[in-house]
Amino acid sequence: MLVALQQGAVLTRPIPSTGERIPVIGLGGRWISTNSTPDELADHRAVLHALADGAEGAGRVFDSAAGYGGGGSESYAGQWAEEDGFGDDIFWATKVNVAGRGGGSVDPVDVRAQIDRSFERLRLPVIDLNQVHNMGDPPTQLGVLQEYKDSGRIRHIGITTTSARQYGALADVMGQYPIDFVSIDYAIDNRAVEERILPLAQDQGIAVMVYLPFGRSRMWQRIGDRPLPEWAAEFDAHSWAQFMLKFVVAHPAVTVAAPGTGDPEHMVDDLGGGRGRLPTRDHVQRMIALVESLPGG
Ligand SMILES: NC(=O)c1ccc[n+]([C@@H]2O[C@H](COP(=O)([O-])OP(=O)(O)OC[C@H]3O[C@@H](n4cnc5c(N)ncnc54)[C@H](OP(=O)(O)O)[C@@H]3O)[C@@H](O)[C@H]2O)c1
Repeated sequence: MLVALQQGAVLTRPIPSTGERIPVIGLGGRWISTNSTPDELADHRAVLHALADGAEGAGRVFDSAAGYGGGGSESYAGQWAEEDGFGDDIFWATKVNVAGRGGGSVDPVDVRAQIDRSFERLRLPVIDLNQVHNMGDPPTQLGVLQEYKDSGRIRHIGITTTSARQYGALADVMGQYPIDFVSIDYAIDNRAVEERILPLAQDQGIAVMVYLPFGRSRMWQRIGDRPLPEWAAEFDAHSWAQFMLKFVVAHPAVTVAAPGTGDPEHMVDDLGGGRGRLPTRDHVQRMIALVESLPGG
């Protein structure tokens, strides 16, 4: 099975602002935490190895955040990469937000302090991507990120939201600031970004990172133990994970998807979603119809 999953060329897409190509499947690092058990940490470390092993010359995105796991997501990943020597196989992405959930304006001094802590925890002199997390005070936090980009310490900057209520504000930011990335929620049963955000990203030349490609547990519950349709083989999807990942990656605005997993075998499975053929337009319509026929929609 694993041999079948690894077949086909690794699919990459260019970051529009720089032309740098990155593999279309990365990893969401939300689940690595200072509260993780030793067994969980061993699994997360193996997940990161699987990610790095699948790089094949173009660093795979590891998406972290200063706020994930009490800082554990950044600090464990940085420690493992240094100890095990796989740092160059990762495209390091993290996020900053000192605004908290409620938003409001923030002090640039606090923003710089959090960004500097990310360099320390990740043990990196240069970070590939740092994004404003959850639309927190974009003028201040994007302004500080731009300073770091100008000095060469952060290579790309961006902004994230996984809330449809914030898409209007996100679209405004995309029109006003010279950002390299936006990161948003997108899944086969959650396609609201197709209306405005994805076309805007294409128009403005902004890379798109997809979060929540499985809707966390939502799609797994809807699929249950249904067999994968045989026609999924027409676009080299050999598992439901690959089916769902290939759906989001098939959209031409999408640069990379960052599924979350703490299971090394799932990571290998997910990486298979970034190899071989992608669904055609007809496949995409058929995929949507299939998912809409499932319970729980
Ligand atoms: N506002 C933001 O900036 C924001 C918000 C939300 C998420 N994010 C980012 O998006 C990433 C992804 O989101 P997420 O992890 O919450 O949700 P997700 O990727 O939609 O789903 C993760 C779930 O899918 C399961 N899974 C993954 N691969 C699988 C496979 N091959 N087979 C079966 N199950 C599989 C995982 O379980 P196992 O662990 O058992 O594999 C986990 O329960 C986060 O890690 C984070 O980096 C950002």
